[in-house]
Amino acid sequence: MHEVIKAAESDIDVIVGLADRAGLALWSRDDYAEAANSRDRLLLAARENAVNVVGFILVQLLCASGDAVDVEILNIAVDPRFKRKGIGRRLLATALEMIPIDPDSKVLLEVRASNLSAIAFYRRYGFHEQAVRRAYYRDPTEDAILFGADAEKVLTKLKSASDLRETIN
Ligand SMILES: CC(C)(COP(=O)(O)OP(=O)(O)OC[C@H]1O[C@@H](n2cnc3c(N)ncnc32)[C@H](O)[C@@H]1OP(=O)(O)O)[C@@H](O)C(=O)NCCC(=O)NCCS
Repeated sequence: MHEVIKAAESDIDVIVGLADRAGLALWSRDDYAEAANSRDRLLLAARENAVNVVGFILVQLLCASGDAVDVEILNIAVDPRFKRKGIGRRLLATALEMIPIDPDSKVLLEVRASNLSAIAFYRRYGFHEQAVRRAYYRDPTEDAILFGADAEKVLTKLKSASDLRETIN
């Protein structure tokens, strides 16, 4: 049983460990702690049995045209032992439910070109490739692929996947 809620200060060390192990762009402990208390960032943790943190998502709210809010996924990671159990899906769905998105809102992110599992995850929920930033990442040097999607459409797909899973189970 996994629940997704706002991360607490006491979760930050585990989150930094998950990010490091996943080889995500380097954010410091202070960066995550600041994000946990920020008004324009949302840091959520997935807990197993309401105790151990097994995944997290960090998103940035961006001002868009009018009142619309766009969302950038800055980081998402799930403990390798808990992958393919729907935790990533639940993290992203909860983030989008907590943000006041509207029909004009977009979700954006960039990902290493070799990160095929993350790319499969994003495509699964309706993200499309928008652009490539050549040699954007370091250690190793690699292209970044920019993905984007309509936030409401992504949320609908995330939720319908959840309905299907619950029906099968
Ligand atoms: C990307 C990531 C967060 C996905 O988390 P997850 O909890 O394993 O994902 P879910 O179980 O919610 O997967 C949902 C769907 O995404 C797709 N998907 C996820 N991982 C996949 C993989 N390795 N290969 C193919 N499809 C995959 C599948 O359609 C999956 O549904 P299914 O399991 O019913 O087939 C996880 O792989 C991860 O932590 N990767 C390392 C960190 C990272 O690369 N973050 C992204 C940086 S941009």
